[in-house]
Amino acid sequence: MNLTLKIWRQKDGKSQGRMVEYKVTDISEHMSFLEMLDVLNEDLVAKGEEPVAFDHDCREGICGMCSLFINGEAHGPDRGITTCQLHMRMFNDGDTITIEPWRATAFPVIKDLIVDRTAFERIQQAGGYISVNTSGNTQDANAIPIPKLDADLSMDAASCIGCGACVATCKNSSAMLFVAAKVSQFALLPQGRIEAADRVMNMVHQMDLEGFGNCTNTGACEVECPKGISLENIARMNREYLKASCR
Ligand code: SF4
Ligand code: FES
Repeated sequence: MNLTLKIWRQKDGKSQGRMVEYKVTDISEHMSFLEMLDVLNEDLVAKGEEPVAFDHDCREGICGMCSLFINGEAHGPDRGITTCQLHMRMFNDGDTITIEPWRATAFPVIKDLIVDRTAFERIQQAGGYISVNTSGNTQDANAIPIPKLDADLSMDAASCIGCGACVATCKNSSAMLFVAAKVSQFALLPQGRIEAADRVMNMVHQMDLEGFGNCTNTGACEVECPKGISLENIARMNREYLKASCR
């Protein structure tokens, strides 16, 4: 495939950015999207030009680093996958592909397609830890009865990889799907109930401090989430928040 790429280039957080057009040739349909960008960068380096900066780590859908807005969609046109799992067979020879970083005030651009997502880490830190008695009387985790449905829902919520696609997709740049997943994974388990009220209050407070918007109720986040995190988690977080506010 021969493709035209329109890529956001920005030297750093203080500089003005702009879209720059590139051509890539002989791209195999079996390549991943990031491998296609590797080809572009090898060409740029060979020509003595600055390669395009983009985030990636695991390249297998686990770490949540590969945050790209492709043709107006977080993680591109496929569903239930991250950018690193996107294959070039989703595109056609001659296509023009637009590639931008996540757009959100709380995710400032560091360089080109890389944004600063440490706001997510600060929200998780605000949630704190769970209390576990390690004094020698520790209860065997397998001896704590947990309904199967709760265990499954908690595991589903824990599959959030913190990629930020929900924020990038939301017209309010809301982080509620992410925060709700983190609140839910603990709130559903007896071990997480001990600090549940403080956790939800602190995480929501930090989310607001970071400048994320409120939920729009449009559900775009759930559609674009590579891990299928359900909107039901937001409803659960709202219930947890209301209960905690009435203490
Ligand atoms: S909820 Fe989904 S889209 Fe949002 S950070 Fe987690 S995995 Fe990414
Ligand atoms: S590079 Fe790790 S999820 Fe894409």
